[in-house]
Amino acid sequence: MASYLQIADDEKGHELDLFCVPRHYENDLDKVIIPHGLIMDRTERLARDIIQDMGGHHIVALCVLKGGYKFFADLLDYIKVLNQNSDKSVPLTVDFIRVKSYCNDKSTNSVKVIGGDELSNLSGKNVLIVEDIVETGRTMQTLLSLLSECNPKMVKVVSLLVKRTPRSSGYRPDYIGFEVPDAFLVGYALDYNEYFRDLSHICILNDQAKEKYKV
Ligand code: PRP
Repeated sequence: MASYLQIADDEKGHELDLFCVPRHYENDLDKVIIPHGLIMDRTERLARDIIQDMGGHHIVALCVLKGGYKFFADLLDYIKVLNQNSDKSVPLTVDFIRVKSYCNDKSTNSVKVIGGDELSNLSGKNVLIVEDIVETGRTMQTLLSLLSECNPKMVKVVSLLVKRTPRSSGYRPDYIGFEVPDAFLVGYALDYNEYFRDLSHICILNDQAKEKYKV
């Protein structure tokens, strides 16, 4: 089973004043729950674990947009560093897919693939799916079932976050950065109606902000 860093339900987080948070979001957030530096340190270790397991063959890293783009870029940078400083190295290519299921703070119950590369390109390849968060697990299960129709050689999933929630289908990725409480989290490319992707730390959104940015 994948190991992960657990953020407890009673984790108090850190005061916003201790970190650099954009002025335009200062009144929208409760606490910093995972500072950017900790995200980076955990990502570095995930890169090492992934290369140890999947290394040896060409890897196609598939970024699940939009939320996955920051984690994808940083994870691949760490894999690149491993590749350029080791006797063994693996070619890495990238693909992108755009999937959407959330509106406001609710899952819409329909997972839509609304753009990206053709999944058929992944036939016969070793694929690493890179996602920002698994909540119900529906997005990933839908994507995995679409992908299986294209007969990839191997598929592994890495998610920076997995939420502890009674809404979970039970799906667990192969690699997990952090297991987090059932709160609405934003930052590091996780959004609320497209806002907060431009925030470096992962933070808890407050209730006023849910109203303010509601569509
Ligand atoms: C979010 C997130 C995952 C998905 C996880 O995407 O990026 O893809 O929800 O939720 P699930 O496990 O309950 O399916 P969203 O639909 O918000 O699109 P985005 O990545 O463009 O923000």
